[in-house]
Amino acid sequence: MILVTGATGTTGSALVRDLLDRGLEVAAMTRDPARVPDRPGLTATTVVVPADAMYLLPPAARTPLDHEENLLRAAKAAGIPRVVRLSAIGTPDEDHDLPPGHLGAWHFRGERTLRRSGLEWTVLRPTTFATNSLAWAPDIRAGRPIVNPFGDGKQGVIDPADIAAVAAEVLTGDGHHELIYTLTGPELISVPEQLAVLAEILGRPLEVVDREPAPELFPSEIAEAATAGARLVRAGGNAVVTPDVEKLTSRRPAMFRAWAERAWPAVIDGA
Ligand SMILES: NC(=O)c1ccc[n+]([C@@H]2O[C@H](COP(=O)([O-])OP(=O)(O)OC[C@H]3O[C@@H](n4cnc5c(N)ncnc54)[C@H](OP(=O)(O)O)[C@@H]3O)[C@@H](O)[C@H]2O)c1
Repeated sequence: MILVTGATGTTGSALVRDLLDRGLEVAAMTRDPARVPDRPGLTATTVVVPADAMYLLPPAARTPLDHEENLLRAAKAAGIPRVVRLSAIGTPDEDHDLPPGHLGAWHFRGERTLRRSGLEWTVLRPTTFATNSLAWAPDIRAGRPIVNPFGDGKQGVIDPADIAAVAAEVLTGDGHHELIYTLTGPELISVPEQLAVLAEILGRPLEVVDREPAPELFPSEIAEAATAGARLVRAGGNAVVTPDVEKLTSRRPAMFRAWAERAWPAVIDGA
């Protein structure tokens, strides 16, 4: 049995599908069990249940640290020996001087809590998800230009299904204790380049407007961290591609185009 927290979310839902496809039993943790599909081998839970391993998803809304501390305490009490935590690229390994509101500082505190938990641990640090582009859907549907605070900064944009595939390997295989993997797609691609790919797939011109990063361009709960992140990307500071996905899954991670060809037509057709 594998316990997946954040099971209704971007990586958690892909991970649940991946584990079930491998014939494993999965407990999907959520605050709303009605959101968990009815599938053989899958049970919904609102609390930590005994399992062989737990996928620990810190929600993007940046829950207080005690959210993770409570989950780890409950995991220990339930006899779960192994935890795989989703983190983010650029999280420092050691003590650092990042401001407290920085995404890396927040993930650092969560990683440190896990490292000190006494449980077997592995950390996954993915780069920007391909699914972030779905936030452009309302503007694309309405024919409005896409506001781009990331300039021409390139990133190794990753398909969340590849993060899930790595998580499934690490949750179920051995030899990953005390290891940190940095996960990216196979190519560096900027926002204007992603939009050029989408324009081809959707068969319509897409206009992009460049803007200096500013908090009002992002959802309020992540505004500070996202503004700092956009400045970094704009300056070329997240132009990173790693071999970790292929090493761990023996398959090449998806290009942005391959992910978009699967995901985007339904987004626009379903409008
Ligand atoms: N997006 C990126 O490009 C990116 C890149 C690197 C790292 N990350 C990291 O990925 C993580 C998740 O990001 P995401 O946007 O993809 O989130 P997500 O996995 O789509 O959603 C978070 C999940 O957590 C649960 N959740 C939300 N708020 C909660 C709360 N207050 N208490 C308990 N559960 C809660 C929700 O489950 P229920 O509603 O079912 O309870 C939801 O399924 C973040 O830590 C982020 O830093 C993201």
